[in-house]
Amino acid sequence: MAAKSTKVTVKANKQILADSVKKILFVASESTPFIATGGLAEVIGSLSKALSDTGKFDVRVVIPLFSDIKKEYKDKFSYLGNIYVHLAWRNQYCGIFSYVNDGVTFYFIDNEYYFKRPGCYGYFDDGERFAFFSKCVLEIMPFLDFYPDVMHCHDWQAALAAIYLKTNYCFRQEYQFIRALFTIHNIEYQGQYSLDLLCDLFDIFGEYRYLVEYKNSINLMKGAIECCERFSTVSPRYAQEIKEAYFAHGLEEIVRRNEFKLSGILNGIDDKGYNCELDKHLFANFKPDDFTNKSVCKSELQKMLSLPEKPDTPIISMVSRLVSHKGLDLVTAVLEEFLQDDVQVVILGTGEAYFEDYFRYLARKYPDKLSANIVFNGDLSRKIYSGSDIFLMPSKSEPCGLSQMIACRYGTVPIVRETGGLFDSIKPLHNGYTFTNYNAHDMLYVLRQAVSDYKNKPEWSKLMYRAATTDFSWSHSAKKYEALYYDMLK
Ligand code: GLC
Repeated sequence: MAAKSTKVTVKANKQILADSVKKILFVASESTPFIATGGLAEVIGSLSKALSDTGKFDVRVVIPLFSDIKKEYKDKFSYLGNIYVHLAWRNQYCGIFSYVNDGVTFYFIDNEYYFKRPGCYGYFDDGERFAFFSKCVLEIMPFLDFYPDVMHCHDWQAALAAIYLKTNYCFRQEYQFIRALFTIHNIEYQGQYSLDLLCDLFDIFGEYRYLVEYKNSINLMKGAIECCERFSTVSPRYAQEIKEAYFAHGLEEIVRRNEFKLSGILNGIDDKGYNCELDKHLFANFKPDDFTNKSVCKSELQKMLSLPEKPDTPIISMVSRLVSHKGLDLVTAVLEEFLQDDVQVVILGTGEAYFEDYFRYLARKYPDKLSANIVFNGDLSRKIYSGSDIFLMPSKSEPCGLSQMIACRYGTVPIVRETGGLFDSIKPLHNGYTFTNYNAHDMLYVLRQAVSDYKNKPEWSKLMYRAATTDFSWSHSAKKYEALYYDMLK
């Protein structure tokens, strides 16, 4: 009798446990390790894992099956089946593939017409492509028999999933308990289209026009903010900033009106992936309490980039998209002046032709001082993070920024402008340097301060140690998402 009742209790506990595991569906356009064009992918890959590791969530992720997804993974995907999905008058094939990576189930939406193209974005029909993707997200739920408690949509490409959920699907019983969280990784890209496309292309019924209409266009990010139960940004500071016109790219009114449901949660990074003790991309591995081998990383980097091997000359690096809001106006204004000092500067990234050409030109003019690498190269980026001394990130605006955290992990001291996640993650003289105003000479002043401090080796080593041991893992922020999900489910 006693044995039977224990069994019953164990079964009941298991049931309670299963019931208390909340189902989360991430909806995004990219994710590591499959496909990445920027920080969004890293956050989707690492946050989904961090949440799944808590044991409290069944986290699944859905992204399009882009043809650029790495073959090593694509070959291992399982085909689950296919359905047909309506998008206004269209009725399109939707293949569903899946793959479990580190405990997280990923789903891939297959449609060759929309996604078998090089790259992820930049096509004339991006609006239609992501409308189709978003529709599929809702349509695969009955196929998978997976209705999440929280559907967590990221950036404008996933905005329509939240919009459809609260409009076209709101009368369907299975969908009624799904809460939507919309995370803004960058408010600059909003998904704006002509209002003519409302019904015919976006499949939004006329009575819902007011939700997506903004300044005489369709604005998908605006629509998602209106429709979701909560929305968030990737740092607390950015959540404050986007209430201001200067940062909000026209959405400030909408952000302010919906402020009651806004929160800012700082991104973490995959601190196991970015680990100076284990990273195989480095010329040598080292520990935060013994930077001896970091000098090997530095001299090998100098050799590789044809810079003079000078151990005591600081290397200042930038790994960045070469676009204006990354603060490149400040850099171009004072770089030549700065290069007169005993320094070496390493640039890695691609972007606007003006900046690419400028750095190429300066590299030719100062071959012993400046190395311009106008490419996107993950391996080289890690060699630069680990082989340099100072990392510059003077962004005009920065929702979160991951590079300053990655630099820290390799004992490279960041200099950042106090905006968005840069403000939240880097504390002056604790783990880096900061400057407040978007002003080239303020930046130059701090650069020179850091170069001068670099000569004081004992103090500099302490600063490197504090940078390298700052906790940028997801442990704090995953708890904040956890609290937010539970709050939404009350
Ligand atoms: C976007 C933002 C960047 C952020 C990343 C991940 O790329 O521009 O600041 O770190 O998303 O959230």
